Amino acid sequence: MSPVAVFVGPPGAGKSTVAEIVGQRLGVDVRDTDQDVEAGEGVSVQDIFIDQGEAHFRVLEEKAVASALAEHDGVVSLGGGAVLSPASRAALAGHRVIFLDVGLAAAIRRVGMNSGRPLLLGNVRTQLKNLLDQRRVLYRDVARFTIETDDLDATQVADQAIALI
Ligand code: S3P
Repeated sequence: MSPVAVFVGPPGAGKSTVAEIVGQRLGVDVRDTDQDVEAGEGVSVQDIFIDQGEAHFRVLEEKAVASALAEHDGVVSLGGGAVLSPASRAALAGHRVIFLDVGLAAAIRRVGMNSGRPLLLGNVRTQLKNLLDQRRVLYRDVARFTIETDDLDATQVADQAIALI
């Protein structure tokens, strides 16, 4: 069993929205690793970061990624930091991974200045810039395809993704 598509990319790339549209169009279920972690723990990602720290969240996320890739044949959307794990990057090999790329300005616009995302507390622009600079190489590394999303809305991105599937 292998997902029909796996979306990766930073916060603000539109992964969850695009995954939902693609799932609806193809008539398949969508798995979102953030939601899987939240369902498993019974608390929000934000609260896991606050109460138990990022390292603990990354352990839970790595397990959620492994299960989603092994058990799901629909669409999978990974949390933005999932590619930080070497084990998750290795697990993505051979899957139809689609990197939703986004420039800094578009990411800031989409995330907004009150994202509620724990990694973006403080200066959203600085945090997003650092995150994009550090991770773009990792997203490219795992991706079979890349969609440049800056000038597209979620429906247009979904159209391009479906054409790749
Ligand atoms: C994170 C992104 C979030 C979530 C967590 C950490 C990250 O998911 O997993 O807050 O490290 O980029 P989204 O990419 O869906 O915002």
